[in-house]
Amino acid sequence: MFCKAEIVLSLLSLLLLSPLTLSEKCNPQDKKVLLQIKKDFNNPYLLSSWDPSTGCCGWYSIECDEKTNRVITLDISDNASPDFTNFSGHIPPSVGDLPYLETLTFHKLPYLTGPIQPAIAKLKNLKYLFIEYTNVSGPIPSFLAELKNLELLHLSTNNLSGPIPSSLSQLPKLESLHLDRNKLTGPIPESFGSFKKPGPNIILSHNQLSGPIPASLGQLDPDNIDLSRNKLEGDASVLFGSKKKTQTLDISRNLLSFDFSKVDFPKQSLIWLDINHNKIYGELPVTLTEVENLQQFNVSYNKLCGEIPQGGTGRLQDRFDEYAYLHNKCLCGAPLPKCNYASDI
Ligand SMILES: *[C@@H]1O[C@H](CO)[C@@H](O)[C@H](O)[C@H]1NC(C)=O
Ligand SMILES: *[C@@H]1O[C@H](CO)[C@@H](O)[C@H](O)[C@H]1NC(C)=O
Ligand SMILES: *[C@@H]1O[C@H](CO)[C@@H](O)[C@H](O)[C@H]1NC(C)=O
Ligand SMILES: *[C@@H]1O[C@H](CO)[C@@H](O)[C@H](O)[C@H]1NC(C)=O
Repeated sequence: MFCKAEIVLSLLSLLLLSPLTLSEKCNPQDKKVLLQIKKDFNNPYLLSSWDPSTGCCGWYSIECDEKTNRVITLDISDNASPDFTNFSGHIPPSVGDLPYLETLTFHKLPYLTGPIQPAIAKLKNLKYLFIEYTNVSGPIPSFLAELKNLELLHLSTNNLSGPIPSSLSQLPKLESLHLDRNKLTGPIPESFGSFKKPGPNIILSHNQLSGPIPASLGQLDPDNIDLSRNKLEGDASVLFGSKKKTQTLDISRNLLSFDFSKVDFPKQSLIWLDINHNKIYGELPVTLTEVENLQQFNVSYNKLCGEIPQGGTGRLQDRFDEYAYLHNKCLCGAPLPKCNYASDI
């Protein structure tokens, strides 16, 4: 039940608000900052819709909060042909002056260079930070750990180097950490075991990370882990376990060396298991045949030995061809040639 005054009031506000289209809305302070950002990027073609005579909430790449009209998204993505890529320069300090920003995206900008701008540390409301497919370089700054609302931190396919800051594990809401395809060196921080459980998806592939996989990572149970194409060594068995809910586990193309006979698998959830190109030894565990939903599976180029387990609900021998098993020390049995036991001779 509405009282009359309320109805009149809401009709009045409708009348007042409806003529105000999106393109006329804008918080004056945010507009000033956006025009500064445009200037700092040398008035690029990509931002030609940022016309001072119109409201910034209607501008390309901008999204405002519907109630407050404050800018909550700045998403600069160049998906046009490379000929149109006139977007160059560094991320300017002015991006730090949009206090209500929740999403900050720089995507597919090959001429975006320089460091991850320190003023980003001021964006305390930031939930999603995407800097991907750019030439942003320098280290991954530890100030990112101060952005306590971050849920997704995606810094894939840039020119970032140096170590992964251990402080990232202090991000209480992080659901997804993508640092793949950079030039990161050093170890996976020991502190990553203290991510809030179950831990974010951790994608670190195509870097130059080295050293052991910290045992503390065994405390996590993320849906997806991809550590492939690094220089990681030693034991990765903490990433496995029958009680986990992992869906994809890719540790391929590293220097890992551990006894595979001893690991167990998340039998219900595991979809993707790739350990190819390592120095992993031992036998394939029989429990592998109980992993029902495996779609991608590759244990090739390791030092595995013994008979490929046959049968079970997983029916490994039928579902994956010999290329999933080739180049091991002495794996045998379907789909590879029959085992040649000493007793057969
Ligand atoms: C991009 O810059 C080049 C020169 O650097 C110019 O010839 C071209 O017209 C520019 N393209 C656009 C879409 O502004
Ligand atoms: C970075 O710059 C190099 C050289 O200019 C270019 O080949 C490469 O594609 C750029 N990277 C990205 C992700 O755009
Ligand atoms: C990539 O980073 C290196 C330093 O790590 C720098 O020398 C190089 O110029 C950067 N490449 C580009 C395209 O910015
Ligand atoms: C397994 O990985 C090897 C090495 O990268 C590759 O040659 C092979 O095609 C892969 N097999 C399957 C089934 O994915």
